[in-house]
Amino acid sequence: MKGYWPSWGPGYVTPSVIEARTVLSCAGKVWMSTGLMEQESHAWHVHCAHGTVVAAGLGLGMFAFAASAKPEVQRVVVAEVAPEVLRLVKASAGFEAWPCRDKIRLVEVDALAPDFADRMLAATEGMPPDYFFADIWPNFPAAEAPAATAMMGGALGAKAAGWWGQELSFGLWCIQAARWPDESALRNYFTAIGVAAHETAGYAAFCRDAMAIHGFVR
Ligand SMILES: C[S@@+](CC[C@H](N)C(=O)[O-])C[C@H]1O[C@@H](n2cnc3c(N)ncnc32)[C@H](O)[C@@H]1O
Repeated sequence: MKGYWPSWGPGYVTPSVIEARTVLSCAGKVWMSTGLMEQESHAWHVHCAHGTVVAAGLGLGMFAFAASAKPEVQRVVVAEVAPEVLRLVKASAGFEAWPCRDKIRLVEVDALAPDFADRMLAATEGMPPDYFFADIWPNFPAAEAPAATAMMGGALGAKAAGWWGQELSFGLWCIQAARWPDESALRNYFTAIGVAAHETAGYAAFCRDAMAIHGFVR
């Protein structure tokens, strides 16, 4: 894991910045980072987090840290398949000293395995999540993410859910369906894939910003 300062970094709804960030590489390839791209692409999901939150994919712990800091979040249970990622966050991110550490539970489990929902619900004392966030894919928009999120969220009985890069999945759908990315298109999209989401005019504008930065709309 390396810290970079200063260096150019892309954003998710911001064109680019010069920023300090931590980058984790695996076999010489960038795997995860703490840069603006990650922060902005987590932002909607942190905004949606309340009550009992379940996340798939610990990564560098940014979502867990931010979600747990919200007063309206009671607990955050995170599934992580890679034991080395769990060890890294515990050893290098000051995990035990996080301000809301007591709200967080880390569970070593494959989010795509049949025992995922049972293992997570055991950690929430049977409470279905108020929000489920899936972030287990190396790139966005991952073609399999919408259906996989619907499947994982359904197994958990999640009241609402989302996945990393969903704004761009929505953008691709809008292009194919020849729809302007507004609130009504958001409603139709999430209904079609079977994910309960929060569709607001403000979020549609956020999606359009992400699409514009990634060359989807002008
Ligand atoms: C891009 S990172 C997540 C970043 C994270 N949202 C954060 O806040 O830093 C993806 C993580 O998902 C994990 N992962 C990949 N496949 C998984 C699976 N099937 N089940 C659980 N975790 C998985 C990876 O090991 C990695 O830690």
